Amino acid sequence: MFSAEDIREDFPILEHIIYLDNAATALSPRQVVEAQADAEFHYRANVGRGVHRLGRLATHKFEEARDVLQKFFGGEAGTLAFTRNTTESTNVAAHGIPWEKTDRIVVPLQEHHSNILPWFRLEAEGKIAGVDVVGGTDGHIRAEDIAAAITPETRMVAVAHASNVFGTIAPVKEIAKICREHDVLLLVDGAQTAPHLPINLADLGCDYFCFSGHKMMGPMGIGGLWMRDGAPKLAPAYAGGGMVGKVSGHAFTTAAGAGKYEAGTPNVIGAVGLAEAARYLSRLGMENVAAHSSELAHRMVDGLSEIEGVSVTTPSDVTLVGAVSFTVDGVHPHEVAYFLDEAAAIMVRSGEHCCQPLMQKIAPNGGGTVRASAYCYNTEDDVDLLVATVEEIAHMVK
Ligand code: ALA
Repeated sequence: MFSAEDIREDFPILEHIIYLDNAATALSPRQVVEAQADAEFHYRANVGRGVHRLGRLATHKFEEARDVLQKFFGGEAGTLAFTRNTTESTNVAAHGIPWEKTDRIVVPLQEHHSNILPWFRLEAEGKIAGVDVVGGTDGHIRAEDIAAAITPETRMVAVAHASNVFGTIAPVKEIAKICREHDVLLLVDGAQTAPHLPINLADLGCDYFCFSGHKMMGPMGIGGLWMRDGAPKLAPAYAGGGMVGKVSGHAFTTAAGAGKYEAGTPNVIGAVGLAEAARYLSRLGMENVAAHSSELAHRMVDGLSEIEGVSVTTPSDVTLVGAVSFTVDGVHPHEVAYFLDEAAAIMVRSGEHCCQPLMQKIAPNGGGTVRASAYCYNTEDDVDLLVATVEEIAHMVK
């Protein structure tokens, strides 16, 4: 097991603040920043195009980064295309799947906008028959709710591997089995689990997996869309440089492999940084990261639950990916977040967390919740100071 204290020096800003907004974006360690600087200084060049030495080196590093990520996620039996982030990945899938107008998509209510609005848009544009929103507001995704919503028209289930509001984990393997039995596609939004859980895509059983680099210590603006070999091939969302095979007249063929989804100059430096983040996490050990994140989240749930006037939205009886949502009676979530920063330099997120369909049910007054989210460099002291400061806020309004 790694020690959070020992790795903190890789994240210099932690000398000054307590960072508990990791579900929004994680900090990058020096190693990731240095890998990007090295790429900028030594092989900043376009990939897959020219033949000069910098181009060849950049291409090698870019493809090496893809391999590192593919292995990190156990996704060798599939294609990994680099995208900007999870939102772009779900949109590329929404654009690329060869839909029939009669298709339906099943989505849990608690999803992040990035895994609900692309499907609502297909519905609004008449490209599919509809979206069936399932499940409750308690943070638990139940495989039986998904199974009950599947009809002969269901073409796909789209589910977040973990909730960015509750920090709870969905039973994706079970859902994958149900999908296979019904010949239904499964898209998994892995934005909140890629940073925290050991992921083995061969075992998980989904058809498409979307993730963001910046939540797993990588740079912003780089993420991925993994497509299982054998899943329906996606039509590329963008046409242009780099994604093409042969242009004949006005027609063109697409490049083989992931390249057809990476039109234009890709984020080479970002891919190199993201691969370094995956190496960093592998050195810590994803089993260890998962245990650390869940332990700190439970310490938050336990501490916050004891404060009078604080309601914890995150369930206490399950493994968590580090995120905990709560509210303080009589204080707007933004005020709580502002006070935490001003009083104790604690950074948390407040508001609707890009989950308005859920928030309209659990926080109908519009303020949303406060969300604190821990990662490997956070310590029990960070959590204890959060709890003590929230207690101070709750007492101020009594
Ligand atoms: N998806 C990110 C969050 O939950 C931005 O905060």
